[in-house]
Amino acid sequence: MSRDTPLGFQPPAIGEEEIAAVAETLRSGWLTTGPRAALLEERMAEYLEAKHVLAVASGTAALHLALVALGVGQGVDGHRDEVITTPITWPATANVIVHTGASPVFVDVRPGDLNIDPELVAAAVTERTKAIMPVHLAGQPCDLEPLHALGIPVIEDAAHAAESAYRGRKLGGLSDATCFSLYATKNIAAGEGGLVATNRGDVAAAIGELRLMRRGDGSRYDLTVPGYKANLSDVLAAIALVQLDKLPEHTERRCRQFDLYDEGLAGLDGIEPLARDPRDTHALHLYVVRIVAERFGLGRDELQRALAEERISTSIHFLPVHRLTWYRERFPDQPALPVAERAGDEILSLPLSPAHSEDDIHDVLESLHRIHSRAA
Ligand SMILES: Cc1ncc(COP(=O)(O)O)c(C=O)c1O
Repeated sequence: MSRDTPLGFQPPAIGEEEIAAVAETLRSGWLTTGPRAALLEERMAEYLEAKHVLAVASGTAALHLALVALGVGQGVDGHRDEVITTPITWPATANVIVHTGASPVFVDVRPGDLNIDPELVAAAVTERTKAIMPVHLAGQPCDLEPLHALGIPVIEDAAHAAESAYRGRKLGGLSDATCFSLYATKNIAAGEGGLVATNRGDVAAAIGELRLMRRGDGSRYDLTVPGYKANLSDVLAAIALVQLDKLPEHTERRCRQFDLYDEGLAGLDGIEPLARDPRDTHALHLYVVRIVAERFGLGRDELQRALAEERISTSIHFLPVHRLTWYRERFPDQPALPVAERAGDEILSLPLSPAHSEDDIHDVLESLHRIHSRAA
């Protein structure tokens, strides 16, 4: 039996506490960046075990400002700076590289977890490589050690990885900059917002200058850099602070949902969850499966449609960026990236959210089993 009500893919888990925090902030008169943003930075620095955390307007802004702070730009003598990144990401990761004037260099991912392949990164380094921008897809840390060994600045896209740890060390203070998102679907959801974590004082100082121009004391002002307007409002910081308090409880629910999926999918041929490395802490942000059409009996797109008919929303994380129109046209000589391209046709993200009940996840599993037996 299909559900009576639609099941959202990743609805935010917002309660009365967040509503009260917003009301209190509005009453305080701080609509823009103020004490709550400062408190969020302080608490996130402690949580992420990083020396500095800077709150910004979005995860995209965090990545962009980190690149600018590290001096990535147009390059010299017509030779553009290059930033090596993964094609299996939200396009923002590549777009911000383009916004600096540099060129994204896409390398392929590993088949198990779809994170960037460090060996291919090493092979793609040139004298123009100014940074490496890996993504921790779904919350599984990428393999950072071989990337750090290359001696090139690393800016981590940790939009999915608020709770992740790499080999026992929290993501946040491991690379030159680590960028988080507070977007509506993220594990710490403020609606919009981002954070840059870093142990580098120079990077923190540069981002501090770039994200917002303040008047400071009095009405005389000056500036040393033409910055952006990428600060985080206290209204959003107030939501993020409550979400941070709720993280342990939300993690428990995510964990239970992962367990239910793991158990429920074990007997289904042709549907395989992405690999998770037991040496790392996974943020459990997305439950991504591969649909192997020959074994499942249906392709990914057909399955997604069949689930939608059963009122279950799913999503795709992600379509390979280098295959999207602008990137295809702008970089026509981009070599094929077979692992990413195959994954782009096969992956599907199943509903996952602390707002969902265990019954909701059982409904997804029942639908998958029903569709599978019809297809077999
Ligand atoms: C992997 C990845 N990187 C970057 C971003 C951008 O974050 P934001 O939406 O906060 O700008 C997202 C966002 O959804 C993402 O999934």
